[in-house]
Amino acid sequence: MTSSPYLAPIEDSLSTFKDNIFSGKVLFCTGGGSGICKGMTRAIMRHGANAAIIGRNIDRLTETSKELSEQTGKTCIPIRADVRQPQTLQNAVRRTIEKFGRIDFVICGAAGNFMSPISSLSENAFRTVVEIDTLGTYNTVKATIPHVRDAKGAYIHVSTTLHHRGTPYQIHVSAAKAGVDAMSNVIAVEEGPHGVRSNVLAPGFTSGTEGMRLMTGKTKVKADGFSTPLGRFTEIQDVANAAVFLFSPAACYITGQIIPVDGGAEHLRGDL
Ligand code: HXC
Repeated sequence: MTSSPYLAPIEDSLSTFKDNIFSGKVLFCTGGGSGICKGMTRAIMRHGANAAIIGRNIDRLTETSKELSEQTGKTCIPIRADVRQPQTLQNAVRRTIEKFGRIDFVICGAAGNFMSPISSLSENAFRTVVEIDTLGTYNTVKATIPHVRDAKGAYIHVSTTLHHRGTPYQIHVSAAKAGVDAMSNVIAVEEGPHGVRSNVLAPGFTSGTEGMRLMTGKTKVKADGFSTPLGRFTEIQDVANAAVFLFSPAACYITGQIIPVDGGAEHLRGDL
């Protein structure tokens, strides 16, 4: 693991963006109770936005909301919903509007994953992940789009780099996230004329997440022996920083892009 200061995780307090760039804005984040989406929500709130975090585990959402509100001085509300059930999402949108009056930014982050070869993956297991990731993204966009249009806001879809190549035991996630990437591009071209942007962030192996635990059996893994051009795994804060940029006015002409946050890992050939 390198000790270069340029490669160290960037703390919230060192943000290169002004503190108030999201003052008056509202974030709606599915999957915000933990991991990467929690980190993104914290970073957006730390720059002035209020937030609603949506998921299935209300106890975890409630705890996270309290933590993020205390850390940022902004308001975060927890709302229980299953992205596979449009009615619950519509209810989440209604409650967000009742509380905050608007939705500027949406992070479609709710996801499901586990490792399984196709030979033992049931049809229901495949469908479950596609329903959470792909149908869930569709449902989230459908429920929020009138408000995001009103705000001339933006979407960030959380994808992966796994499906850019043939990653074993990830056929369900690969199919699901390829669909997410494609939908984001369509949203970008359809909604661009309404002033709405849509982009994808594709984290690599990210320390401290459920995804890392699934792939390695642990959430914290030493990067020794793992090759990325920048010499370490993705940190949650790396993805959060990218989200702040993408929602900020600095990215106002960026839409329909799929942006890996992986230290260049997918460009590195391991066989040379
Ligand atoms: C094979 C499995 C399985 C496993 C579940 N199934 N776990 N099959 N191996 N490990 C099958 C079940 O047997 C069942 O099929 C079907 O999937 C549905 O399972 P349920 O448990 O009923 O579904 P549900 O309660 O909705 O749970 C969904 C879930 C769960 C995806 C299975 O793990 C979940 O909710 N996870 C959310 C958190 C999560 O996964 N986060 C990680 C995101 S990381 P049968 O045929 O038996 O009925 C990420 C990025 C990855 O997305 C990046 C990696 C680097």
